Amino acid sequence: MSIIEAQGLTKTYQNAVKEAGLAGAVKHFIKPVFRDINAVQNVNLTIEPGETVAYVGPNGAGKSTTIKMLTGILKPTGGTVRVNGLDPYRDRMENTKRMGVVFGQRTQLWWDIPVSESFTLLRDIYAIPAKRYRENLEWLSAMLGLADFMGSSARKLSLGQRMRADLALAFLHDPEVVFLDEPTIGLDVAVRERIREFLKKINRERGTTILLTSHDLDDIRDVCGRLVVIDRGTVIYDGKLQELLDRCVRSRTMHLRLTSDGKDFARKLGTHPDCEVRVATESEVSIEFDRFALSAKDIINLANASGDVMDFRIDEPDIEVVIKNVYEGKLDIGSGGIAR
Ligand SMILES: Nc1ncnc2c1ncn2[C@@H]1O[C@H](COP(=O)(O)OP(=O)(O)OP(=O)(O)O)[C@@H](O)[C@H]1O
Ligand SMILES: [Mg+2]
Repeated sequence: MSIIEAQGLTKTYQNAVKEAGLAGAVKHFIKPVFRDINAVQNVNLTIEPGETVAYVGPNGAGKSTTIKMLTGILKPTGGTVRVNGLDPYRDRMENTKRMGVVFGQRTQLWWDIPVSESFTLLRDIYAIPAKRYRENLEWLSAMLGLADFMGSSARKLSLGQRMRADLALAFLHDPEVVFLDEPTIGLDVAVRERIREFLKKINRERGTTILLTSHDLDDIRDVCGRLVVIDRGTVIYDGKLQELLDRCVRSRTMHLRLTSDGKDFARKLGTHPDCEVRVATESEVSIEFDRFALSAKDIINLANASGDVMDFRIDEPDIEVVIKNVYEGKLDIGSGGIAR
């Protein structure tokens, strides 16, 4: 059985339209006017146990709204959703016991009490057996480095400490699935790296299913096996990141270091319909080529025929550029677009 199954999942918010001033307030009171915001429209999403899925999209795309429906915070206005076979909104209590959630912008910690007491409170709420609680706390604490601030109140923690504590709380009760809404927002490189390592390890060792949203593409590249892109409430891509890159990035660039003269090399290589050579320095050239027409091996062969190649490297496609183009609608990912 799939761990998450959403069919035609839809959420429409009704925003009050108010005119400014007292007259506007009175008018709204007498005859309120609402405007529909289609935050999530007809989303189909099936996730299997143990998957790590990145749910990405531009600001306002509907990511947090989807997560709120999957965690039972919001009731969908349309479609069906099952998490662990449960209706998250109707079976909210049972769903909560079997999942974890972190909203990077908010904390689950009780603000004024020591962090350690937030943990014991959650232990009691979830009725975690004492032995399991001790083992989990030790394991999570070692991985996320919680010991230094367990005695501090949440209000005194730095953002990175707070996020690590929130993550540990989300995993404390052995949830089968964890939703992470921007778990690395505002964190420094070292803490982000630590969190990514943690997520990979817990997924590998405990098989926890992870759905995360992030604007940090390293999180996606590093942690997630699957990428779901949402834009204006609709899923526009669902597949592997590499497949998206393969489909969308048509050109590759090979940089070559030569023992011979670069200009000479370029002249000998001449013009070719599917590649373009640029002389970078006297002994360095770059060849941009259409990877649907030529392979890297073809380029090496062409290069060897034109000069002495000492070393070469190929640029990886720039994920940032591809995702940005997807967001901006510049790529027709349905039929395999182009990005340069
Ligand atoms: N409580 C609400 N009431 C009315 N409209 C809302 C509410 N929450 C979100 N929206 C609107 O729904 C749309 C989707 O918002 P959502 O927060 O799901 O986006 P997001 O993808 O999480 O964006 P971000 O990357 O900025 O976090 C936006 O247009 C937003 O303004
Ligand atoms: Mg959001």
